Amino acid sequence: MTAPLAVRGRGVRHRFGGTVAVDDIDLDVAAGTVFGLLGPNGAGKTTTIRMITTLLPTPPGAIEVFGVDVARHKPAVRRLIGYVPQQLSADGALTGRENVALFACLFDVPRARRRRIVGTTLESVGLAEVADRTAGTYSGGMIRRLELAQALVNVPRLLVLDEPTIGLDPIGRAGVWDRIGEVGASTGMTVLFTTHYMDEADQHCDRIALMHRGRIRALGTPAELKAGVGPDATLDDVFRAVTGDELGSDAGERMRDVRATRRTARRLG
Ligand SMILES: Nc1ncnc2c1ncn2[C@@H]1O[C@H](COP(=O)(O)OP(=O)(O)O)[C@@H](O)[C@H]1O
Ligand SMILES: [Mg+2]
Repeated sequence: MTAPLAVRGRGVRHRFGGTVAVDDIDLDVAAGTVFGLLGPNGAGKTTTIRMITTLLPTPPGAIEVFGVDVARHKPAVRRLIGYVPQQLSADGALTGRENVALFACLFDVPRARRRRIVGTTLESVGLAEVADRTAGTYSGGMIRRLELAQALVNVPRLLVLDEPTIGLDPIGRAGVWDRIGEVGASTGMTVLFTTHYMDEADQHCDRIALMHRGRIRALGTPAELKAGVGPDATLDDVFRAVTGDELGSDAGERMRDVRATRRTARRLG
């Protein structure tokens, strides 16, 4: 593989006391792509994301972001990343503009440019007109777009979103994805996100890793993963094949074939 990797993980693991949250996973996210980390609650998605974003310790050599070792160069990695956490991070008592300006400050956006960048970022997520209302008056979808603006204000090369659309209605979800798509297309930004909405992953991902109990159980493009289960399979079927008790069944066997094929392809390519 010659294209630079936005994220390269090898043998990534993390335990909380006796709980193995992430169990020896390898992860390649190619630059400029949209990569989805899928899986049920407790699969280990957030833990993986927090390791990539330097919020949990990692051993040297385990994770690189654009070739920079996360364990050795935390501040450098943080400058490359924009992060929208799973739990809400916007302050309802501040206006939209104040919320984004706070992040511009945190991320050392130069003072002379701050005003302009905050304005254009709010515009890019479709909140210019409501920027001076307090965030407490925003809908769920608007709050999520405000958080997206907070993560975009330092013009990251890698945008990391943990469950960006959880709890939103279909219009709110579409609004968030439209903005991510537009920003991605205009900047070439790499996007890494987690979800448990299969339709969303199918629609927006170049590649998907399906996690279950700390491990990656399936990896590929949405089309490859679906073809691995059978004709007319949906990602929901893939999800069931991977997370159900049917791993020894035909679907499970075929899923392993997809992975083996991918590994061979990587070796050859
Ligand atoms: N801070 C923590 N302390 C103890 N256990 C945790 C903590 N965070 C996550 N876990 C456990 O690690 C596992 C993976 O959790 P998480 O990464 O949050 O999964 P997901 O994001 O896929 O729902 C779960 O069993 C969860 O209970
Ligand atoms: Mg999570």
